[in-house]
Amino acid sequence: MAEGAAEAPAESGGGGDSGASAPERGVAPIKPQYLTTKEQFHEFLEARGQEKPSQETELDIHGKLYLAPLTTCGNLPFRRICKRFGADVTCGEMAVCTNLLQGQTSEWALLRRHQCEDVFGVQLEGAFPDTMAKCAELLNRTIEVDFVDINVGCPIDLVYKKGGGCALMNRAAKFQQIVRGMNQVLDVPLTVKIRTGVQERVNLAHRLLPELRDWGAALVTLHGRSREQRYTKLADWQYIEQCVTAASPMPLFGNGDILSYEDANRAMQTGVAGIMIARGALLKPWLFTEIKEQRHWDISSSERLAILQDFTRYGLEHWGSDTQGVEKTRRFLLEWLSFLCRYVPVGLLERLPQRINERPPYYLGRNYLETLMASQKAADWIRISEMLLGPVPPNFVFLPKHKANAYK
Ligand SMILES: Cc1cc2nc3c(=O)[nH]c(=O)nc-3n(C[C@H](O)[C@H](O)[C@H](O)COP(=O)(O)O)c2cc1C
Repeated sequence: MAEGAAEAPAESGGGGDSGASAPERGVAPIKPQYLTTKEQFHEFLEARGQEKPSQETELDIHGKLYLAPLTTCGNLPFRRICKRFGADVTCGEMAVCTNLLQGQTSEWALLRRHQCEDVFGVQLEGAFPDTMAKCAELLNRTIEVDFVDINVGCPIDLVYKKGGGCALMNRAAKFQQIVRGMNQVLDVPLTVKIRTGVQERVNLAHRLLPELRDWGAALVTLHGRSREQRYTKLADWQYIEQCVTAASPMPLFGNGDILSYEDANRAMQTGVAGIMIARGALLKPWLFTEIKEQRHWDISSSERLAILQDFTRYGLEHWGSDTQGVEKTRRFLLEWLSFLCRYVPVGLLERLPQRINERPPYYLGRNYLETLMASQKAADWIRISEMLLGPVPPNFVFLPKHKANAYK
């Protein structure tokens, strides 16, 4: 085809005989400020093609619902469930930098992403600037993620005593080296998850936030409790509110105790850029829908069982459908059931909404399944698992890993 021939119909489109039977082909009405010439168009593309893609240092998740990183429970099949119910942002379970650098397969598995996870990050834990930067460099080359998060909220002794997790909040020089070092090598935004502080009455977050902003963190999530508090007290949203100003203009996400759309609305009123939800999603993954639709969902026990059925299907896809895969799926299902049993159906409540720190009394559900799902006994969780995955192997024992499902 001669040069220009392809353009001819478009150029002549509007001006022909008004009685012509050929379909009219005009010029698309582009706003004048976007119009250019053919030469400039190609020059632009040529020049831009030579440039190194610019680093994506901002993470725009304003107003989004963020499913918290959840060791053991926040596995890929569970995250798929939450995505279906409206979680916007998801994150892998905490991965230990040194384990990743040693090439441990099970640690690398924590970084896997499902295609439905359209805004997805991974979370790293470590105590040393050199290993953290090396790890970030490795991830930058090998995996596709939208952000990398550092867990500076982890309270467990094993991590804390080595100077990682929450301990970094008291090691400003090392903390700075880690954030700056990782930021230097990452092409995606670096985010940080922190707590109010280490001790109950010594808040540190408001002092650290401006520093984190200057060191290059794109976003920080603040869990409104100290290391000492664990889950014994309610999250301090008044303090989170104060921290919004300290962090500005860096976006601050707030985290703690959200179990209803009312909780979410109250949290958003503090001025946070968005909210992160952890146990609320474990107790009722449909919480994301409730928040988006501003309603309480009196979900039936058969609908809840269907969710568990989907989880087992996703689990078998992810961990395999051989004996090992089935037992792995069962273990993770049981871990989840140890939280799920704390949900009280909306239709049974005298006062709405359920609060996360309220221990449900013994109650009978509206049918056998609803009652079974309210049981706090591992033997009953195992029965539910058998409804979905068949009988457990002989001598099967289950002890939930997380103490966070205690009510203390
Ligand atoms: C089972 C479980 C596992 C958790 N694992 C992680 C983790 O891997 N990384 C992390 O930063 N926080 C982890 N957390 C803490 C939560 O992300 C969140 O900060 C905390 O539970 C407070 O939020 P909530 O009140 O909505 O539960 C975990 C919490 C629970 C209950």
